[in-house]
Amino acid sequence: MNKIDLQVNGKLVCFEGESRTHLGDFLRESLDLTGTHLGCEHGVCGACTVEINGAPARTCIQFAASCAGYQIRTIEDFDEDEVMLQLREAFSKEHALQCGFCTPGMLITARDIVLRLPELTGPEDEGRIRNELSGNLCRCTGYQGIVQAIQSVLRLRAIKGKK
Ligand code: FES
Ligand code: FES
Repeated sequence: MNKIDLQVNGKLVCFEGESRTHLGDFLRESLDLTGTHLGCEHGVCGACTVEINGAPARTCIQFAASCAGYQIRTIEDFDEDEVMLQLREAFSKEHALQCGFCTPGMLITARDIVLRLPELTGPEDEGRIRNELSGNLCRCTGYQGIVQAIQSVLRLRAIKGKK
């Protein structure tokens, strides 16, 4: 058995359990943070993506016991986040989701793209955005709406930044 402390959505929590328990199961089953979805559980689909120490990471290939002192943010922690609000609106407008299973992980990755790569505002940047998104799979949308939603937020923020 392991016992470690970590921060989840700004709160100090304790994980106590088996070495094999991955972070995704801990978040969902012990903390009831079911916005983090589990698909492949092999590190392939990206549905389980959260922010770990400020960067997107997959919870299904991260042992909870190895997260001592880590800061985790799940999709539930972004309700008041400006970029996330812009992305949510853009995802709805651009039809960037259907079943929604991939959406929490997509939004975490999309927010990272918007904040880390604000210069990707041109039509020629679509390939780079697709490349950055390649760790998140969507079985429904064909990606076009997702890419358009991210592009629209990048452009909106670029325009706002110039004002
Ligand atoms: S559930 Fe973690 S990458 Fe698919
Ligand atoms: S919206 Fe269904 S998997 Fe992406």
